Amino acid sequence: MTTGMAELRDKVVIVTGASAGIGEAVSRALGAQGARVVLAARRTARLDALKKEIESRGGTALAVTADITEEAARASLVMATMTAFGRIDALINNAGFGQRGPVETVPLDNIRGNFETNLFSLIGLTQLVIPVMRKQGSGRIVNIGSVAGRIARPLTSVYDATKHALEAINDGLRGELRPFGIEVVMIEPGFIRTEFLDVAQRLAEPVLDDPASPYARFMRDQHERLQHMLKYGASAAKVSDAIIKALTASRPKARYAVPAHARFFLVLRWALSDRALDWIVFRQMGLVR
Ligand SMILES: NC(=O)c1ccc[n+]([C@@H]2O[C@H](COP(=O)([O-])OP(=O)(O)OC[C@H]3O[C@@H](n4cnc5c(N)ncnc54)[C@H](OP(=O)(O)O)[C@@H]3O)[C@@H](O)[C@H]2O)c1
Repeated sequence: MTTGMAELRDKVVIVTGASAGIGEAVSRALGAQGARVVLAARRTARLDALKKEIESRGGTALAVTADITEEAARASLVMATMTAFGRIDALINNAGFGQRGPVETVPLDNIRGNFETNLFSLIGLTQLVIPVMRKQGSGRIVNIGSVAGRIARPLTSVYDATKHALEAINDGLRGELRPFGIEVVMIEPGFIRTEFLDVAQRLAEPVLDDPASPYARFMRDQHERLQHMLKYGASAAKVSDAIIKALTASRPKARYAVPAHARFFLVLRWALSDRALDWIVFRQMGLVR
């Protein structure tokens, strides 16, 4: 059994996607608890502002501009962390986005791009961090998955597929790394109010904005419905609380679904037949007449 980081003070934690949403919220919380936070994302100005904010409250932060899809950027991120702090206690693999659209029309390059960020880059960074943690004899890797990693839906199944694949990698890693004192945990958020939907919409438009598409009406409806449902979404701080729990528990659970509606959806997935679940999901997506 490995001991958790009951005390986060001085622990070195890398957070990818720290410039917005869930990553920003958990970075703030980690800074407030005295962890040394390494903030990684592409938008430098946002990282710098967050670093300043954390430091103004007495915390310690390092901002590293990094596009995690670039091999060299991943290496520099790990190098900068080791140079500054000499160790890595935790890695929070959070950076990600959602490619929307029907399978028929999303260009393969966009599908590959979504896998590149949400899965391959995450694996690449994890591969660099594992040897450091193994040498230390301890560490914690927290992967931000999604309820969409357990339930796939029409018009978002490309993104859902990246998160389904991450579930498998997460489960494999959990067993592979336990002998070395490294715990691997999955967080499965439901609807969370962040920039996620806006980014997804912005990325979907150039490739899917064809009014003549047979899917155009469904795409529009889906966007409106998701925007509406987001009103009932939880705050990023709620997910941050679950991540802190995953970091500090002496024996973390394999997965934490947050908030309550996420756990409810997973119970439905488990309890209902495919036909019954289809009826609920397709209706909710406006695909049932
Ligand atoms: N919001 C939800 O409802 C929800 C639900 C379930 C799971 N999730 C998951 O939660 C995670 C965080 O999403 P969020 O909701 O907080 O969305 P968000 O507000 O859009 O934040 C996404 C973060 O990822 C970073 N990022 C994206 N591509 C990157 C790249 N190539 N290199 C480095 N950083 C990159 C962005 O930073 P830059 O643009 O500055 O690079 C940003 O900081 C994602 O993995 C998402 O799939 C979200």
